[in-house]
Amino acid sequence: MGERTRVYGGPMRMRAAVLEEFGAPLAVQEVELAEPRAGEVLVRLHACGVCHTDLYTASGADPSGYAPTVLGHEGAGVVEAAGRDVGSLAPGDHVVTLFSPQCRECIHCRDERTNLCLAIREEQNKGHLPDGTTRISRDGEEIRSFMGCSTFAEHTVMPEIALAKVSGEAPFEHACLFACGLSTGLGAAINTAAVRPGSTCAVFGAGMVGLGAVAGCRLQGAERIICVDLSLQRLELARGQGATDLVEGGEGTVERILEMTDGFGADYTFEATGNVAVMRQAVEAARMGWGLCTIAGVAGKGETLDVVPRLLITGRRIAGSSFGGVKGRDQVPVLIDRYLAGEIDLTPFVSHRITLDEVNRGFELMEAQDGIRSVIEFA
Ligand SMILES: NC(=O)c1ccc[n+]([C@@H]2O[C@H](COP(=O)([O-])OP(=O)(O)OC[C@H]3O[C@@H](n4cnc5c(N)ncnc54)[C@H](O)[C@@H]3O)[C@@H](O)[C@H]2O)c1
Ligand SMILES: [Zn+2]
Ligand SMILES: [Zn+2]
Repeated sequence: MGERTRVYGGPMRMRAAVLEEFGAPLAVQEVELAEPRAGEVLVRLHACGVCHTDLYTASGADPSGYAPTVLGHEGAGVVEAAGRDVGSLAPGDHVVTLFSPQCRECIHCRDERTNLCLAIREEQNKGHLPDGTTRISRDGEEIRSFMGCSTFAEHTVMPEIALAKVSGEAPFEHACLFACGLSTGLGAAINTAAVRPGSTCAVFGAGMVGLGAVAGCRLQGAERIICVDLSLQRLELARGQGATDLVEGGEGTVERILEMTDGFGADYTFEATGNVAVMRQAVEAARMGWGLCTIAGVAGKGETLDVVPRLLITGRRIAGSSFGGVKGRDQVPVLIDRYLAGEIDLTPFVSHRITLDEVNRGFELMEAQDGIRSVIEFA
């Protein structure tokens, strides 16, 4: 690992994995990182998960993607310095990065019905910090940030509103899982669906998001949790998170679930595959009268969800869930406390530990569906 040299008052040099060109491997190299400005914080990363969204952008399939950029958005680390006007974080605090920030002031933050903070959306989508500039550069050329995080790097500068201060007791390799898929799944069950105790749930997909949803249903006191996936290995992981019934997916899955539920369907269904045909199954497997289908998967651009309206008239509902409806600064610390209290077992989720230099291997492992998460550990 490279040495971390800090020159006070000027930019620091650090190693980062740069997406130079779509479809090409990330290039790990030295770049410059400027100091945090007002409302911003310098974080030293300790762990970062490798996620499909990073790979999706690296591949060039995301039409809104840009390069050069430093990828990564599932970071956990320690605050090293705070810029002016930062009130809630100080050096030494342990933090989890939030691609979905929480300013606590905008109209959405002040409403309990949504977590979609409006404060920095536009600049974040452009790869900028809230003031419209970037902190990462290379020989004077600016390098944009990714999802407001850019955590495939030894350090990052992020807005205070996009960092959750969490317990210092959580191991970083587990804390970083809460930055994306795990909180999404947990929150889909706890916030979006607000699963009632004693319910029957069906979760489609047993990746990070689906497994989080299984755990969330269990924490909410669901009596039955049916999990559907194509991979038997992943279904076994779902059993470990509390799934009571395992179903190999494919055609006929809706009929299977109806059979298992006296012809009615599940009180709550969750979709965590990103496949619109599976989303349709999740709607159809929801119970008449009150069945709620929560969609967390991200479909391809231009794809649409096909639903027979009669299913809705007879009482089924569909909800979407971004980051599980989790208001990150308030709720990620609470979820981590529940994990520390022994309510969620995260050990099976970290399948590979890699170095920053091995980030492309993390992508290969993901493409081979080898394990749930590769986590980059920083020296
Ligand atoms: N809403 C959000 O904020 C948010 C956050 C993170 C990820 N996501 C999205 O959630 C989805 C899941 O993410 P992940 O990281 O868990 O992905 P993943 O690829 O690890 O898991 C998807 C799972 O779906 C299974 N699957 C595929 N086809 C299936 C079928 N026909 N029936 C049943 N299971 C099937 C796969 O075997 C796999 O285990 C993706 O679309 C991702 O983009 C959304
Ligand atoms: Zn992610
Ligand atoms: Zn806000």
